[in-house]
Amino acid sequence: MGRITLDKVAKRFGEVEVIPPLDLTIEDGEFVVFVGPSGCGKSTLLRLIAGLEDVSGGEIRIDGQNATEMPPAKRGLAMVFQSYALYPHMTVRKNIAFPLKMAGMPEEEQKRRIDNAAKILNLTDYIDRRPGQLSGGQRQRVAIGRAIVREPAAFLFDEPLSNLDAALRVGMRLEITELHSRLKTTMIYVTHDQVEAMTMADKIVVLRAGHIEQVGSPLELYRTPRNVFVAGFIGSPKMNLIEGGEAGKHGCKTIGIRPEHISVSPTEGMWKGRVGVSEHLGSDTFFYVHETGLREDMTVRVSGEVEMKSGDTVYLTPDMDKLHRFDDAGLRLS
Ligand SMILES: Nc1ncnc2c1ncn2[C@@H]1O[C@H](COP(=O)(O)OP(=O)(O)OP(=O)(O)O)[C@@H](O)[C@H]1O
Ligand SMILES: [Mg+2]
Repeated sequence: MGRITLDKVAKRFGEVEVIPPLDLTIEDGEFVVFVGPSGCGKSTLLRLIAGLEDVSGGEIRIDGQNATEMPPAKRGLAMVFQSYALYPHMTVRKNIAFPLKMAGMPEEEQKRRIDNAAKILNLTDYIDRRPGQLSGGQRQRVAIGRAIVREPAAFLFDEPLSNLDAALRVGMRLEITELHSRLKTTMIYVTHDQVEAMTMADKIVVLRAGHIEQVGSPLELYRTPRNVFVAGFIGSPKMNLIEGGEAGKHGCKTIGIRPEHISVSPTEGMWKGRVGVSEHLGSDTFFYVHETGLREDMTVRVSGEVEMKSGDTVYLTPDMDKLHRFDDAGLRLS
């Protein structure tokens, strides 16, 4: 079991309130991602749940039990960090065994759990190596193995893939998602990478300055962002956010249109502009359009390979069904 509830949990460092009182429920078995810009309090919130920081107020419950004052070891949670923190002089087996040994678990049970974790993580062939003889991805798997053997109520990951190169990150992302579907254990995963959030989460918690801006499934956040901040944060390339006269025509302060919801024509359309830079990814083409008469330059995403030259004139037309409208306070209208 691993249902975690936060009731008015707050955190101050001295005079600075990093997390104003917030409420959040994480259901048993859920994969929840905390996402937000650097410094928004993601790690702090995770560390409060882990018990590595004391709360300044509020209550944390794990499976109905008040865990607010519980020491970390009693909470039954396992944390995996960005820096793997493996012992360089110990083999993979000994590294994974470490928390079990500390807990005084019988050797046989230790062995069963370690062999099982090694199998799940494809580490069986490396079990007698030392960390220095492993790749970055393999080291991260050892760190995850050390968490798995504890059979925790929930896994807490703090940016575990940040040290890996782009290709390996995608691979490990998939491995962690698969691990979750196999173990069905609650996972809380912190990242500032919204692509990781979108691809891995059952539920995303978007944080800004310690506040929860929105909680929802990836597609809920993509389709109906509650405010301008979430609209701009979720989705890549970023949603176009247009203020001024054009937004006024739609009766709001800001309109938003995603780059993939704009059609392009060389001859006619709503906004005429000039192509600046274009980026050819093969699967998609992104290009940036200025001189549209709008206050902001526009980003457009077209599927496949499209010939676009800098300086070309284009006409852009937003899909009106996909237009987002926000009021003076930045909140979604309708
Ligand atoms: N021990 C501390 N003492 C004082 N301030 C702290 C402490 N730890 C964190 N903070 C502050 O709390 C805020 C949130 O920090 P936190 O590490 O939770 O951010 P984060 O969202 O994890 O950022 P990042 O994406 O950069 O890891 C920051 O402004 C940080 O400076
Ligand atoms: Mg952090």
